Amino acid sequence: MAASLCAQPLVLLSLQFAAAAAMIAAVMGSNSMPVNMNEQREFDYFALALQWPGTVCRRTRHCCSSNACCRRSNAPTEFTIHGLWPDYNDGTWPACCTRSSFDERKISTLRDGLDSYWPSLSCGSSSTCHGGKGLFWAHEWEKHGTCSHPVIQDEYSYFLTVLNLYLKYNVTQVLNEAGYFPSNTEKYPLGGIVSAIENAFHATPLLVCSKDSVEELRLCFYKDFEPRDCALGSIIQNGMISSKSSCPRYVKLPAYVPPGVGHVEAALSWISDNGIA
Ligand SMILES: *[C@@H]1O[C@H](CO)[C@@H](O)[C@H](O)[C@H]1NC(C)=O
Repeated sequence: MAASLCAQPLVLLSLQFAAAAAMIAAVMGSNSMPVNMNEQREFDYFALALQWPGTVCRRTRHCCSSNACCRRSNAPTEFTIHGLWPDYNDGTWPACCTRSSFDERKISTLRDGLDSYWPSLSCGSSSTCHGGKGLFWAHEWEKHGTCSHPVIQDEYSYFLTVLNLYLKYNVTQVLNEAGYFPSNTEKYPLGGIVSAIENAFHATPLLVCSKDSVEELRLCFYKDFEPRDCALGSIIQNGMISSKSSCPRYVKLPAYVPPGVGHVEAALSWISDNGIA
């Protein structure tokens, strides 16, 4: 008797909660995401997105402690983690799948690895799912990580899984072994980079460029974390690189230049061009 009296308000409460969640979902889905949040189905595969600091750090205009591009001699010189993204085979993806907010305390034991391998490469804060702004990690967990269930169930597991994947699939090492090193002058054939990854991991990656410079390399995985081809983009068919890739046929892997150095060089060359020095 007492139990049934108590149960009723609880049911009502959870119904109200579900309705509110669906409304928030509809609003967020309409302005930012290709898929409406309250209809999101389970994802098809994972993409591990890695970013190339040599390219991304060229955008740093001013420095701050949270931007790893500003670490100068300690700045990252190999691919770093952008995120692990649950994707659909049709090229869309789910986003902001639960109301789980990022909690920095839950990943405190992973902090060293995250600082080294998953640093922010900008000063700006990132948008989170509940209308706020937060750390780069908060954005990745709330927007993408929450959609990786039932494979990954919580925030700690998400960050641990991504670090382990990153350490297992060392893209920088594969490229070095194939003769591709950071350089501000060399250009490398995109097909050669793709082949090096295919030979090492038996799956086709997706490359993203900013003009002629590699900005991201994505490795794709089945839900059991076995490598698979990334569905779209750099798939080479009949010797042609698919037009979906944003990369030209020859690409650069720029070397890291500390922020500000380019400006000093530009100023010096202006001074010498103008006969002052
Ligand atoms: C990847 O390989 C490179 C070259 O062998 C090595 O210097 C680097 O420490 C490795 N990175 C990670 C995260 O293990």
